[in-house]
Amino acid sequence: MTITLTTQSPTTGDLIIPFVQTDTLADQMTSLAPQLGLPPDVLQRDFTAGAKEILVMYGPNGQKTTLLGLGAHPKQMDWLRTFRKFFFDQKSKLPAQLTIDLTAVDGAVVEGVVLGIRGGSYNLNLYQTDKADAPLFFSETGALTLYVKASEIDDAQNALVRGEAIAQTQLQMLDLMNAPANYKNPQTLADWTVASGHQYNYSVTILDKAELERQKLGALLSVSQGSDVPPVLIIAEYKPEGVENPRKVGLVGKGVTFDTGGVSIKTSTNMHLMKSDMGGAAAVLGTVEVAAKLKLPIHVIGIVPSTENSTDGRSTKPGDVITAYSGKTIEIIDTDAEGRVILADGLGYMVRNFQPEVLIDLATLTGSVIAALGYHAAGLFTPNDSLAAQLIESANQTGEQLWRLPVWDVYLEDIKSDVADLKNYSGKPLAGSISAAKFLEFFSEKHPAWAHLDIAGMAFADSEFGSQKNATGFGIRLLIDYLQRLIVEKR
Ligand code: BES
Ligand code: ZN
Ligand code: ZN
Repeated sequence: MTITLTTQSPTTGDLIIPFVQTDTLADQMTSLAPQLGLPPDVLQRDFTAGAKEILVMYGPNGQKTTLLGLGAHPKQMDWLRTFRKFFFDQKSKLPAQLTIDLTAVDGAVVEGVVLGIRGGSYNLNLYQTDKADAPLFFSETGALTLYVKASEIDDAQNALVRGEAIAQTQLQMLDLMNAPANYKNPQTLADWTVASGHQYNYSVTILDKAELERQKLGALLSVSQGSDVPPVLIIAEYKPEGVENPRKVGLVGKGVTFDTGGVSIKTSTNMHLMKSDMGGAAAVLGTVEVAAKLKLPIHVIGIVPSTENSTDGRSTKPGDVITAYSGKTIEIIDTDAEGRVILADGLGYMVRNFQPEVLIDLATLTGSVIAALGYHAAGLFTPNDSLAAQLIESANQTGEQLWRLPVWDVYLEDIKSDVADLKNYSGKPLAGSISAAKFLEFFSEKHPAWAHLDIAGMAFADSEFGSQKNATGFGIRLLIDYLQRLIVEKR
């Protein structure tokens, strides 16, 4: 399906018109009604533009006009969700050609609309053998026209390019996240990144198991010990061409392709969802790809330590003491707290080899953050107030919400070890997402602009796509927005 912009009024075909609840809505309805051959007062009576409200009408020759309600003051996430749900639910009924009338709204709205529509094409049925044909609208013959006001065409064009770039990357990340562990492993993530680097012209280095041993990434290796699939460290570096002294941002993402818990094995109830324990990796790899695609004038390095956490005779055992890349030692109390252990090496590798100006890690790290914030926000952990404020601004803009939790030094007491530099679990069911963050802070070597996002509740969620939790692509829109703010910010 192709998406094009126009400033010419459509004369034929089905039309979708989104409406925002404003003081002038009744007037807009009164002037729309006669154009549809209706008495002036019927629309204002039957349609109030509330969120999720839909009104479908047919013209004399069967032409369909759909009014979509957006509620009052919709933000980007509201546009995205409304369009995603509508297009997902209606996809088999949509004609090949369709116009959306956006003349009453800002051109920037196009980004959320495009992300929503592309998202609505998503399908979880990758492994079903008896698939229905792809819906006509989303097939190659499908054509969507976005009708915008002439004064908004430039903003709409930029929003279309961004929306298309992000959506295309995000859909691939959904497939990687939703793939079961017998269809993906660390090498799958490495192969994806290598192919993406070739396509969008950024450099990718993969450290394989032998190289990890040679360079002594002991923390990542210790988690992978119980698995038959070898671990990797993925390093993706996008450096803009022709930009003098660009800002340099390091992103580190947890890439556990399946988390059984290891010897401290998880209960079976929801263990199948642990194929999604690579939401941090998806956010980081996706962001580097989008930055390269959009040729953003910023230097971005993405590092993903990737492994399975499995059980076997060779698995790391509770009580074992391991040595991380930085040379610091870790006492493993619980092998299910593996994310922080592999991130210790991811962060250590980033700090020692790249010295980024800003260092952000993302991970599906703790059940504790879900206990605190539920499925509505990721935990934000950083001692740096201005970095926190910038990330929260991006969260508010994109609707990928963040809520800040403290990282006071008193919490470090909980993870001091008698025998090693630090232990990986306090042993107490208290403030688990905070002690995990303190563990990471230690391995960021107290980087002055470090932030950790615990996205355990946000990367995999309930949605219209299916009956089970499935991937959201959380973090890419947030990080791209943050990078763009950093580009225009004065140093
Ligand atoms: N991958 C999990 C965290 C998680 C839980 C992600 C639920 C998504 C949904 C992580 O590796 C883990 O198992 N954390 C433990 C840590 C504990 C043993 C200290 C947890 O949070 O229970
Ligand atoms: Zn775990
Ligand atoms: Zn995990």
